[in-house]
Amino acid sequence: MKQRILITGGSGLLGGNLTKIMSSFFEVHTTYYSNSFEMDGIETHYLDIKNREEVFNIIRKIQPKIIIHTAAMTQISFCEKLPELTYEVNVMGTQNICDAAKEINSKIIYISTDHVFNGKLGYYAEYDIPNPITVYGKTKLLGEQVVQDSKLKYNIIRTFFYGLDLVNRSKYNFIVKILSNLENGRQIKGYKDIFFTPVFVNNLIEGIIELCYRNIDGIFNLAGSERISHFGFLKKVAEVFKLNPELIIEDRASNYNWSKLRGPDLSLGIHKSLVNLKSKLLDIESGLEFMKKTYNKNLLDKKNPLIYI
Ligand SMILES: NC(=O)c1ccc[n+]([C@@H]2O[C@H](COP(=O)([O-])OP(=O)(O)OC[C@H]3O[C@@H](n4cnc5c(N)ncnc54)[C@H](OP(=O)(O)O)[C@@H]3O)[C@@H](O)[C@H]2O)c1
Repeated sequence: MKQRILITGGSGLLGGNLTKIMSSFFEVHTTYYSNSFEMDGIETHYLDIKNREEVFNIIRKIQPKIIIHTAAMTQISFCEKLPELTYEVNVMGTQNICDAAKEINSKIIYISTDHVFNGKLGYYAEYDIPNPITVYGKTKLLGEQVVQDSKLKYNIIRTFFYGLDLVNRSKYNFIVKILSNLENGRQIKGYKDIFFTPVFVNNLIEGIIELCYRNIDGIFNLAGSERISHFGFLKKVAEVFKLNPELIIEDRASNYNWSKLRGPDLSLGIHKSLVNLKSKLLDIESGLEFMKKTYNKNLLDKKNPLIYI
């Protein structure tokens, strides 16, 4: 019999891909908040994680063995403008989920972020002390603490990922914005002074699936195996997708005010995952090649030709 799992934030970038891929291995229940959706053979449920009663009702009804908690407020500048709402969703929402999970002893897999660090050092390991600088990072870190304090079986996954939205075509989608500009012959700025370790969402999901089956608690960095600058990543995208690299204009994030909301080097070290997990976290080029295999440009263009501009 397939294990029953509940995915919060199924309408999001990660949640949508998780819902689709995991339904081959698990009995998947998934939730949305403002973007309702349907997927073949999968039960989708409305859920506002701020609403404690709703959270308890859904978890009591579904009785999942594992809850993959991806739902969050994720737009960094938006979170700065709405700190109280961000706290309610990212911290209290996580508290509601953990408290309800305790009734049935579910395992929690909490998706966290590289933004729990200030980005002054880079190559952060799981044992490094977080020191977030934004409302988003601070509330995600408080969410981590809620999960750890719950005494449930848990994994906290720190990551930065890219991929295609399957449900809601978000205008903030990082990789689609890059591809859309390059494909349409528009210039795009690449920043040489910010670094990260991006992972293709399907590759991240391989790691999450492994953690569903394995009995190892704790924090794991599931990120790409290679640190790269934003500029370097854009160049790699152009190379792998055979697009014009000349459209990428060298720039510095420090020229812009928004860079205050992001430390310069948010790269994550994956040594612990390499040692403990069988899933192979890919380098930049292999991750992009993996994405290219699943990239359906026609589908995106026909459904919503302008949204990624
Ligand atoms: N994108 C990245 O590279 C990245 C990097 C590091 C960590 N993360 C973490 O990974 C997780 C998933 O990120 P993502 O980029 O896939 O997110 P996303 O695309 O922004 O989706 C966010 C999800 O949260 C749901 N949500 C928002 N408010 C809610 C509420 N009050 N109640 C219930 N659901 C609510 C949204 O539902 P509706 O759309 O239906 O409203 C959506 O399904 C997040 O926890 C994020 O912090 C993301």
